[in-house]
Amino acid sequence: MIDVNKSSAVHAAIVVRAALFILALAFMTFMGFPKYVTADEIERGRYIFDLAGCAGCHTDKKSKGAFLGGGRKFETEFGTFYSPNITPDPNSGIGKWGSTDFIRAMREGISPDGFNYYPSFPYTSYNKITDDDLKALWAYLQSVPPVAQINISHNLTPPFNWRFLISIWKLINFNQTPFTPEQEKTAAWNRGRYIIEALSHCRECHTPRNIIGGLDITMDYAGTEKNPEGIVVPNITTDRDTGIGKWTKGDIDMLLTMGMLPNNDFVGGVMAESVTHSTSKMTPDDKSAVIEYLGQIRPIINPIKRKKSANSGESWQ
Ligand code: HEC
Ligand code: HEC
Repeated sequence: MIDVNKSSAVHAAIVVRAALFILALAFMTFMGFPKYVTADEIERGRYIFDLAGCAGCHTDKKSKGAFLGGGRKFETEFGTFYSPNITPDPNSGIGKWGSTDFIRAMREGISPDGFNYYPSFPYTSYNKITDDDLKALWAYLQSVPPVAQINISHNLTPPFNWRFLISIWKLINFNQTPFTPEQEKTAAWNRGRYIIEALSHCRECHTPRNIIGGLDITMDYAGTEKNPEGIVVPNITTDRDTGIGKWTKGDIDMLLTMGMLPNNDFVGGVMAESVTHSTSKMTPDDKSAVIEYLGQIRPIINPIKRKKSANSGESWQ
């Protein structure tokens, strides 16, 4: 015989649970991404974080600052920038942000209060990061230890301290088209391009800038003797004489893995940082994708005179 009371109690419990589940789903949809993320997603986010080199800029390693606590100084021809604290500390970090705030910052370069970020935060590249990767990155950022460290204000020369001018800069220089794979190219080429353009932002340094600091795409990856931080950046196009067109795949692999140049010297300064934080952490598949893409960059003749030997730059680590 069926116990009617017991079965209806079970039934009611199922209905209540189902209703709670639907409510929870509706709530999560309303709030943006689910707050409770899986360990897998955090791990995926850490990898995106590594390839994108966030740690180098947001950690003041020279002064032994806390991980992602900000305060790293960037001297440029526009003045001095200091990176902000991006740990989940609610008062001095981004602990009060929701995922939509984060996505707006990365995609549009706009803060939760509606002001424009300076492009020293490379959202000009990061806006091409896919939705899934941004979600994972956000999951990871929420998992790092919060650090109470107040941000330092930038010290910029007028008119560069007028944030409203950035909106004009954006109109001219900010290409917001999302990343779209090219069908006729291989999956590896497209993956390499995504890593180079959206995540590892190689272009931000290796492509010269116009007079108002926008990227000069006609000289894509052709290097510059006058980058805004006063750094000499080599030509990495496939031109055989002035770029890296004579490098073998193995040479590029050594550079990405350990920062070693074909002449057995090592890169220094900011490139050494890129190697430490980003390229050395690529999976073998991602590394070969990057090598495939680099090998097909349009050659541009642009001789770059180096000021000093490769490894005499500021040493990192
Ligand atoms: C080249 C250095 C650099 C890199 C790389 C970089 N950032 Fe930043 N970031 C900055 C600077 C500088 C600012 C401040 C911009 C401003 O004040 O307008 C900033 C601002 C931010 C902000 C806004 C914080 C706030 O309090 O408003 C967030 C969030 C952020 N970065 C996250 C990231 C993430 C995530 C990554 C990696 C995907 C990353 N950044 C990589 C330099 C960098
Ligand atoms: C923060 C600026 C910056 C970023 C980002 C950056 N580079 Fe570099 N790169 C440099 C500088 C500066 C040098 C020169 C370093 C030296 O000579 O010690 C360099 C050197 C190189 C070299 C050696 C070229 C030669 O002829 O010696 C290669 C190859 C290279 N970068 C590729 C890349 C790739 C690929 C990426 C993206 C994954 C990248 N770089 C990201 C600044 C950067």
